[in-house]
Amino acid sequence: MSKKLYIKTYGCQMNVYDSARMAEVLAPLGYAPAESPEAADMVILNTCHIREKAAEKVFSELGRLRPLKEQRGTVLAVAGCVAQAEGAEIIRRAPFVDIVLGPQTYHRLPEMVARASRAGGHVLETDFPAEEKFDHLPETKAAPGVTAFLTIQEGCDKFCSFCVVPYTRGAEYSRPAEDVLREARRLVEGGARELTLLGQNVNAYHGIEGGLGALVRRLAEIEGLARIRYTTSHPRDVDEGLLAAHAEVPKLMPFLHLPVQSGSDRILEAMNRKHKADDYRRLVDRLRTARPDLALSSDFIVGFPGESDADFEATLRLIRDIGFAQAFSFKYSPRPGTPAAALEAQVPEAIKEERLAVLQRLLAEQQAQFNAATVGRTVEVLFEKEGRHPGQLAGRSPWLQAVHAPAPPDLLGRVVPVRIASAGRNSLAGVLA
Ligand code: SAH
Ligand code: SF4
Ligand code: F3S
Repeated sequence: MSKKLYIKTYGCQMNVYDSARMAEVLAPLGYAPAESPEAADMVILNTCHIREKAAEKVFSELGRLRPLKEQRGTVLAVAGCVAQAEGAEIIRRAPFVDIVLGPQTYHRLPEMVARASRAGGHVLETDFPAEEKFDHLPETKAAPGVTAFLTIQEGCDKFCSFCVVPYTRGAEYSRPAEDVLREARRLVEGGARELTLLGQNVNAYHGIEGGLGALVRRLAEIEGLARIRYTTSHPRDVDEGLLAAHAEVPKLMPFLHLPVQSGSDRILEAMNRKHKADDYRRLVDRLRTARPDLALSSDFIVGFPGESDADFEATLRLIRDIGFAQAFSFKYSPRPGTPAAALEAQVPEAIKEERLAVLQRLLAEQQAQFNAATVGRTVEVLFEKEGRHPGQLAGRSPWLQAVHAPAPPDLLGRVVPVRIASAGRNSLAGVLA
């Protein structure tokens, strides 16, 4: 009998990847994708614990799903990082949930589903199993899109003082290069033209001698693969090999998400980032020497405990010095169990709001400038999907800008020169060159 599965994904791209793999793990049990939770026999919430708001969303979503459970007997599962961090709390607050599983146990989902239906109770699996889930997952079968994610590294040993990831994802682990290459070949055979390598600390990858730079070179040999990206990288793990790959591997795209969090040395130290603001400036110089057209993106936290006006000014200075193509910025959110949450000098909410607004205004200006600079130029666009209007295709520039242009459907999956005619804040419009 065919059954239907609906997965709702929160958080980072690693969760997006995990959701796709969970669907594959459950496919042999007869689960096909559902259009909506209402049409599903099983709903999985794949959750994120990074900030308080992200975690709270899970409980409100569960409240909305509860009637489905009561009326249709829908199996409800909570996966991901909230499940890992608060498994018991979920079962206490939402006892109608059937399965709670962490990010390292989803290869066991079929068994959990069977147990939940037998027992009628709860299944809670949030250990960090000794066996590696990647060794137990089926080979990727789903047809990927033009762009695909590929997790190569998981977990984190860095313990930034604000962050839950080392607790929710566990210790750093690199998949062996041969596994990664096999999965990459399958994805490319299935139609993917661009791969984004994923990891919480992706450039700490050590599944091959020579690290991420060496892996990128091996991947670049795959025929049919046009573009390689990776995210999220840490400033402390950019080694010579990776710099050289940026200089020498044309398939490696000239866009790098390199979170810095703050421009104040005092705050960077309190965050346990283990580098100074000038180290970041120097690193960006070296990256731009290796690849002169490299564009940068970053993450920023405002209102970390103890952040003064002067610290915040230092962050604005760093942003002006570097010039970012885009960035994400957040108000500091105290996370239970992390060292920073226990610090006394918490910054008042109103000041966080104010600083965030100032920072986002500056970043938006930089993004608008960066986009405006492409107007009149011809850029290579990988077309990924149909555009919003008939007769259009949409894709990305090498610098991850969204671009749309009038184009015939047979250009889907192709890298095509497009002359940029106009730039908005979030996308560019052009014509085939
Ligand atoms: N591994 C990545 C970050 C993963 S979390 C890195 O080291 O950069 C993604 C982003 O969420 C972080 O870069 C940070 O800017 C933000 N973040 C993490 N914990 C946070 C917290 N407690 N409050 C606010 N933002 C946070
Ligand atoms: Fe979190 Fe820091 Fe690890 Fe990034 S490096 S996942 S911010 S602890
Ligand atoms: Fe969120 Fe977990 Fe990713 S906390 S950001 S889903 S690693």
